[in-house]
Amino acid sequence: MINFSLRKDELNCELKKRDCGVDLYFFEETSSTFDEAAMIKPKAPSLIAARRQTKGRGRLGRVWQSDEGGIYLSLILKPCVPKEKLQLMTAICAVGISRAIEGYTPCQIKWPNDIVSPDGKKLCGILIKLSTGETNSAINVGIGINANNESFADELKYASSIYKITGKRLNENALTASTVSEILKICQSTDLSLILEEYRKRLINLGKRVKLIYPNGNEESGLCTGADNMGALIVKKDSGEELCLNSGEVSVRGVYGEYA
Ligand code: BTN
Repeated sequence: MINFSLRKDELNCELKKRDCGVDLYFFEETSSTFDEAAMIKPKAPSLIAARRQTKGRGRLGRVWQSDEGGIYLSLILKPCVPKEKLQLMTAICAVGISRAIEGYTPCQIKWPNDIVSPDGKKLCGILIKLSTGETNSAINVGIGINANNESFADELKYASSIYKITGKRLNENALTASTVSEILKICQSTDLSLILEEYRKRLINLGKRVKLIYPNGNEESGLCTGADNMGALIVKKDSGEELCLNSGEVSVRGVYGEYA
């Protein structure tokens, strides 16, 4: 039987095929790729890849289910990202990962940086951290891709995997390498307006009514009309007022609760 799981040698080989110049740190199991990242001092772009995590972390303090079959990555990008691109990292990574996943199944971006199937099921989550070490600071892009996962905890109503959608197992090494390759390609590209255009085209929220949930529990609703040049979500409230929202200040749901 073909083994499609993440494996160090095969992943290295797939990365080389695509000319991804990253140092690879590979783990069969770790608490979280973020914990491993905290222990290294990367001199070059680096990829920490794990087959399983025992304490995977998601946004807003949530747990990230990290069983075998999923792909768990920390891509450490600085010093290769120019300053003007730092603010756009969310959009850059969301577009890069979408391009890679699209090699297997259609997907869209749920603002700010979830990759979902066209019916809103979550296929990938991204959590970007800026880590400052003694001698170096780095952008750590935490990426969790639901690749060959067979099942999810009952409370993860809106989660799915590429395997569950296509019915076919995919090679996790090839998907990981194309994800890294697409993100690095975009980091090197000079025309970010094209990336933002792609981000907007893929935005599942566009033209839909959204519910905005603020950290203090307040809620508002309105119509999503786009994303600005920094990737902030533009929402026209029912009162007619237009808001530009950054990811830290609000979380967004479809009004009917269809996207978690
Ligand atoms: C989200 O909540 O949508 C973000 C999920 C990010 C999960 C990834 S898996 C690799 C990295 N290590 C972690 O512990 N979390 C991120």
